[in-house]
Amino acid sequence: MSALVDGFGRTVRYLRISVTDRCDFRCVYCMAEEMTFLPRAQLLTLEEIATLSQAFVELGVEKIRLTGGEPLVRQGVLTLVQKLGELEGLRELAMTTNGSGLVKHADALRQGRLDRLNISLDSLKPERFKALTRMGDLGQVIAGIRAARRAGFQSIKLNAVLLKGRNDDEIIDLVNFARDEHVDISFIEEMPLGAISEHNRGKTFLSTDAVRETIENHYQLLPTTETTLGPSRYYRMVDSQSRIGFISPHSHNFCAACNRVRVTAEGRLLLCLGNEHSVDLRAVMRRYPGDTQRLKSSIVAAMKKKPERHHFTTDGEVQVVRFMNATGG
Ligand code: GTP
Ligand code: 5AD
Ligand code: SF4
Repeated sequence: MSALVDGFGRTVRYLRISVTDRCDFRCVYCMAEEMTFLPRAQLLTLEEIATLSQAFVELGVEKIRLTGGEPLVRQGVLTLVQKLGELEGLRELAMTTNGSGLVKHADALRQGRLDRLNISLDSLKPERFKALTRMGDLGQVIAGIRAARRAGFQSIKLNAVLLKGRNDDEIIDLVNFARDEHVDISFIEEMPLGAISEHNRGKTFLSTDAVRETIENHYQLLPTTETTLGPSRYYRMVDSQSRIGFISPHSHNFCAACNRVRVTAEGRLLLCLGNEHSVDLRAVMRRYPGDTQRLKSSIVAAMKKKPERHHFTTDGEVQVVRFMNATGG
């Protein structure tokens, strides 16, 4: 039984924790070219993240996903994974990463009981990959995906944010890559968070319905009701183990089934990705150290602040000034 029910009767079972706002990439849809990052003292300590996680699990959370920025650039994150892996009652521990650190860390993550990995991959062309991430190396990320498979991860999902005119000619190549590598792939509609500088989001928006049609010109897609508790709607291909997912915040709003909240790197419990309703849990933990009862009451009370839905539009207007790296998606 979860104690976390919001004002619209939705039960929260999925917690996303941003362990850092820093990243070794600067993806064009996620960050501005010049970013300032939080001073380290403002970040939750690893102990505070573990305390929070335990409180959420005791309140009914079953799934925790570590995000960033890039979670693998946070010092000590492997120890954190180990610690969270021991939480009784947690059914799934997952991470979303840009993949750059997986050659180095995939084995340790697997030993730490991480169940699932989501890895961003927006292009298979080295030059374009470099342009979209501003500093990423495609070869390193592909090697990271393979290292994760070798380390024994059974469930890997690629994430591709599609931008019209920039990478939408690679839909089939990305699907084929996922098939060949025996991993899933989700295609994502870009969301208007943060004032990015490089493209006009009003011009690059691509509906996942168009993406699905493109794929269906090559492959038969079979709808499924399979879920990972996240926003992806999955399809299967007839002759492949890989699933194709669509994350469609604009064209198929999924807020009515929302089951998640997030904690920012500085310990703000953010009740919706597309709104600013939040509660400062770092303040609660630092003011009342060791008082888990008070922490849990604050979390339960915060559920009443969870808004019904986001109100993103596709016209390119920024609707949330917070950049995605501050929340991890
Ligand atoms: P699994 O379902 O566990 O595989 O992961 P996920 O899709 O929940 O997480 P991931 O970190 O891979 O996020 C994929 C995309 O979904 C990102 O663009 C996120 O911003 C987006 N996303 C995840 N949760 C939400 C949500 O609650 N609202 C909105 N609007 N987007 C979300
Ligand atoms: N819109 C949609 N998805 C985004 N991501 C980052 N910024 C955006 C955005 N503006 C994705 C990343 C990563 C996931 C956590 O969020 O590609 O896979
Ligand atoms: Fe939930 Fe807000 Fe995401 Fe909608 S946008 S699914 S309400 S977190």
